[in-house]
Amino acid sequence: MSDVTLTTLQSLKQSGEKIAMLTCYDATFAHAASQAGVEVLLVGDSLGMVLQGHDSTLPVTVADMAYHVAGVKRGNQGALILVDLPFMAYATTEQCLHNCATLMQAGAHMVKLEGAGWLAEPIRLLAERGIPACAHLGLTPQAVNILGGYKVQGRQDAQARQMRADAIALEQAGACMLLLECVPSSLAAEISQAVKIPVIGIGAGAATDGQVLVLHDMLGLALSGRSPKFVKNFMTGQDSIAAALSAYVQAVKAVSFPAAEHCFSA
Ligand code: KIV
Repeated sequence: MSDVTLTTLQSLKQSGEKIAMLTCYDATFAHAASQAGVEVLLVGDSLGMVLQGHDSTLPVTVADMAYHVAGVKRGNQGALILVDLPFMAYATTEQCLHNCATLMQAGAHMVKLEGAGWLAEPIRLLAERGIPACAHLGLTPQAVNILGGYKVQGRQDAQARQMRADAIALEQAGACMLLLECVPSSLAAEISQAVKIPVIGIGAGAATDGQVLVLHDMLGLALSGRSPKFVKNFMTGQDSIAAALSAYVQAVKAVSFPAAEHCFSA
């Protein structure tokens, strides 16, 4: 695969070809996933849960993220590397710029920030300084304590209207990508139509421009033994991890994943 850039992702959106994204935290899986055709490797702060064993993403630090990005960079075979800014790493403008510099220098091609309309300001500053940013809307796990748990977002009309407006405002501020987590499929479809930038979904239906899953979940390795509704175990019926990764990419491209059973209604 030739190197995936922002231009590649924009072309995929325009052509209607779905984008395959997976979380990835080390060199070996970066090699395997990028070889399997995964276009975007997300070094997610979910590593706090699946690698470190915490019950949320809140304990993850910028140093943790930089360590894992550096490994992913070494194994990567041409995918775009998207990296989470962890909890409170972008609470102020100074922290945001400083921590983005650390992660970009460690190997990130794009950073991801969780929030809502308030992200317009940091995203505008980052865009001006040449740092592509992805805005993560809907269920934002860093805010689990204010959301009262890991729940579907945007089911009420007012919430849905606000999310649509935020998505458009963030695109105008310079966001290069949106990620929607646990959002009704109909709302995610509307947002994907309303913006020109690629929209990636997790628990957001089949009409987004691409899909992402947590690597350990799609390999059937959930620590609790229970997976969220939007997860499919791609190891089922496969005899190797490489085959499961390829099956995921094919299912995303063929729009056979997510199926109705993985989606949320309004
Ligand atoms: O940290 C992460 O893995 C994520 C995904 C759940 C999208 O943000």
